[in-house]
Amino acid sequence: MSIENETFRPKIVAFCCNWCSYAGADLAGSSRLVYPADVKIIRVPCSCRVNPMFILRAFEKGADGVIMCGCHPGDCHYSTGNYYARRRMTLLFSMLDFIGVENGRTRVEWVSAAEGVKFSTTMNEFVEKITSLGPNVRLEDLRCRN
Ligand code: FES
Repeated sequence: MSIENETFRPKIVAFCCNWCSYAGADLAGSSRLVYPADVKIIRVPCSCRVNPMFILRAFEKGADGVIMCGCHPGDCHYSTGNYYARRRMTLLFSMLDFIGVENGRTRVEWVSAAEGVKFSTTMNEFVEKITSLGPNVRLEDLRCRN
């Protein structure tokens, strides 16, 4: 890790579906599992509600990493929402990689309501990964910097 990264605290946006992942985050909290406060959770009704523009907008507004969490495949509250989300994110992430936003800055993870430990572990890993990658400057709108 470089000297610059020692003081670097990444800004992470986590889109979590209401029915599984958000409940998983809740369980992590009520089980007193620790994950960094740098993770800002945005609750969405279903992972398929995450429009690719939301992710681009998060990067534009200064996010260093974006993670999308939803119900496990086959468990979506709306039957097939996460299948659509998975396809959409695969395409978006490959396009982001093409324009220079490293693949490590984006992630999709399936977390059920009973997986508080998985939620906390995933967030810790993701924050560690983003910290090692350093600040994201590729899509950031410099006017948003304070
Ligand atoms: Fe969780 Fe659809 S409701 S992914």
